[in-house]
Amino acid sequence: MDNSLPLESPSLSRRQLLNFITGAAVAATAGAALYPAGKFFIPPAETGAGGAILAKDVLGNLIPASQILAEPPGTRALVAGLAGEPTYLIVKEDGTLDSIGIVDNCTHLGCTFPWNPMDQQFQCPCHGSRYAPDGTVVRGPAPLPLKIVQVVAIDNSILISPWTENDPRTGEKPWWL
Ligand code: FES
Repeated sequence: MDNSLPLESPSLSRRQLLNFITGAAVAATAGAALYPAGKFFIPPAETGAGGAILAKDVLGNLIPASQILAEPPGTRALVAGLAGEPTYLIVKEDGTLDSIGIVDNCTHLGCTFPWNPMDQQFQCPCHGSRYAPDGTVVRGPAPLPLKIVQVVAIDNSILISPWTENDPRTGEKPWWL
């Protein structure tokens, strides 16, 4: 007589099925409960065509173009740009917004830096690199010009998008592409 256990126990299969159904029900309930909370913490996608985003302040509030353009000509206004990178927007002498923004990220080791209006330079406090108003290196150790982005004001909003054309300072393909 064969006393060995059957390879598949019907009761075990029923238990597995019940466990599966119970697990699925718990997962569905938990998912339904957590969805609104998760959605709250995931920022809505605000990336437009070509990866464009709207300029914001450090708190995540949209910055109207009129706010930047109320500043005097020559102002370098820092905003949160692509991927949250701090980015300088420039008010030109004619009171309009420069179509080129300068990313505030030193090409030496990534420090942020202020604009020095007296010297008309971006000056990195970490190791002394200096950049001209257009972001080209005036003094190292920075090895590369500052990254630039495209800036356009539309209906009082400021759109910032990746710079994908040739770098106007070198005439060559940008180093960040
Ligand atoms: S990080 Fe700016 S000079 Fe070193």
